[in-house]
Amino acid sequence: MSDSVHVLGICGSLRRGSYNAALLRAAGELLPQGMTLTVHDLRSIPLYDGDLEAAGMPASVTALQSAIREADGVLIATPEYNYSIPGVLKNSLDWASRGKNQPLGGKPVALMGASAGGFGTVRSQLALRQVLQALDARDLQRPELHVGNAGKVVSPEGVLTDEATREKIRAMLVAFALWIRPSVTA
Ligand code: FNR
Repeated sequence: MSDSVHVLGICGSLRRGSYNAALLRAAGELLPQGMTLTVHDLRSIPLYDGDLEAAGMPASVTALQSAIREADGVLIATPEYNYSIPGVLKNSLDWASRGKNQPLGGKPVALMGASAGGFGTVRSQLALRQVLQALDARDLQRPELHVGNAGKVVSPEGVLTDEATREKIRAMLVAFALWIRPSVTA
């Protein structure tokens, strides 16, 4: 077995200036030794429709399922919309859960989230954990990563500039890597 840990990043926001996409970009810069990160774009996933599924799984959905299956872990960065996760993310997880051997079963998943307000996606991350429970995923419990007032820690160019937040991401990635594969040298 390879000692490297490959993580698939998923962002619950499609917005160009997304704070959550900024968190994922920062994560890509802060990876512990032996960990790699590839971010999967959800833009091409259609709205879930049982008739579409019956006609054959869309290629964008099978691509997402394969990417999850091939990853050692999944890192989800989610905004909070009306106290829950965005429809974009829920829709993608619903599609990913369809078919035989859905790929999130038993998959290690780490969560983080940024919001413009002060609560830093506390509520949406709890809602996400409930969905992950239905999918039998293994969600990392600690450390938690909630980034409130994101406009103050992400620059207008979309760079996470706050060193304390970057350090929290670094620590979370180390914990995730060691949890997935204790032999990784963090
Ligand atoms: C929001 N926002 C928001 N923020 C929050 O802390 N709690 C909430 O319940 C909501 N609800 C909500 C609903 C909808 C429909 C939108 C569009 C936004 C604000 C949200 O946190 C903010 O737009 C973030 O910047 C979105 O994340 P990205 O796109 O920057 O990653």
